[in-house]
Amino acid sequence: MSQSSHPQHLVSIDDLSIDEVTELFEHADRFAADPRGWSHLCRGMISASLFFEASTRTRLSFESAMLRLGGGVITAADQAMSSTAKGESLADTIRVVGGAYSDIIILRHPSEGAARLAATYSPVPVVNAGDGSHEHPTQTLCDLYNLHVERGRIQGLEVVLAGDLKYSRTVHSFAYALARFGANIVCVPQSGFEMPSYVVERLRDDFGVEPVRADARRLGKLAASSDAVYLTPQKPHQLSLFTDARGWEVQDVDAVYMTRPQTERHDGEDGDDGEYLRLEKRAMAAESLRDAVVMHPLPRRDEISSDIDEDPRSIYFKQAARGVPIRMAILAKLTGQLESKASSPPHTVPLYPVALGMNPCPNPSCVSRTEKRHVPPMFKLTARSPLRAHCGYCSRELPFRLVGCSSTRHYHAPESNALRQVRPDHLVFFSDEEGAQAAGFRPAAGARTRS
Ligand code: NCD
Repeated sequence: MSQSSHPQHLVSIDDLSIDEVTELFEHADRFAADPRGWSHLCRGMISASLFFEASTRTRLSFESAMLRLGGGVITAADQAMSSTAKGESLADTIRVVGGAYSDIIILRHPSEGAARLAATYSPVPVVNAGDGSHEHPTQTLCDLYNLHVERGRIQGLEVVLAGDLKYSRTVHSFAYALARFGANIVCVPQSGFEMPSYVVERLRDDFGVEPVRADARRLGKLAASSDAVYLTPQKPHQLSLFTDARGWEVQDVDAVYMTRPQTERHDGEDGDDGEYLRLEKRAMAAESLRDAVVMHPLPRRDEISSDIDEDPRSIYFKQAARGVPIRMAILAKLTGQLESKASSPPHTVPLYPVALGMNPCPNPSCVSRTEKRHVPPMFKLTARSPLRAHCGYCSRELPFRLVGCSSTRHYHAPESNALRQVRPDHLVFFSDEEGAQAAGFRPAAGARTRS
């Protein structure tokens, strides 16, 4: 099998359909059963690891996976030692490394949306191995695979996500996937590090997930200092049947997914590690954790005490080991070495360039702002009336108050019906009238700033 002229990338967990994920599990099972028996599958292929942020497990499990498949690896794992230090843009690095140098690129980058940008320039598949606090889809596949192995299903499971839910990209990608598979999520955030609203809104918009108050008494010590929230794909009318004033009572949990404080992204708001949520013997005695497996993407700091390492519910080291077979499946699939009967996701959301190149993304860590060279701003049109849009790289909602049309040079309120006629690639986003007028735009009849 050869690779098509349009490589299949893995930038977000949404790039794979449920059937494709299930197929990857089947392949991973085969690879796990006989890890040394597949060295013919990617013989002659080369994967390039471009790791511009620290990594142990993700990089080494990818490299081990390619070597077990019979391929080779090349690595640039230190930004200071690559041409990035000389001012090379990510787009140029990708154009050079993808193709003659390698058959697939595994990219980890501190900027949100970096993998999406890389995919637009790469002639070979790009795998997002973590982009800032945005997404980490291959960790999610590893986490889902662990649930599949340990629990035999994902739909209907009760999964606790605990710790730094604000900056943990593993949590964000995992939450999107759990919602898509129909699992229920109990968020137990470290105080001040709750799940960001852009993630909760996307869970609601794309997967119909409703957040309700959680009564986490049975979670015991783990949830004692946290305002737990229950996120469920149940419909609101079904929820009203079992939600009383205290909220949805957390009962039997299937998995606790603990995360470390993402200190490197905290920007001065770092909490006191001493008070960080912690899983230890006493916390594990909670009624609802009786049969729960304990997961962690690792590395851990103090949030999981080593006194529970031997507890049979603690699976975090097995979880990391399973990263190899699942990444073997990812590499073999994306390089076109596996037969697939599964269809790709039904629709991919189109990205449009923002007219006149005016960047409306509010996120300072978005690759559209951090790259040294100009990155053409792109957006997804989320709704037409009122008009809503999200950054095509980092997925943040664009916070505009006015929307212009680059061909008529009129601006409108986002609620305006006239905007329904405007071609997406003619849209320009403004935060106020001054900005719109400074860019040479005039108010359309009835244009008013949204308050
Ligand atoms: C995670 C990451 O890099 O986001 N680690 C990993 O890939 N296994 C989690 C973390 O660093 O906390």
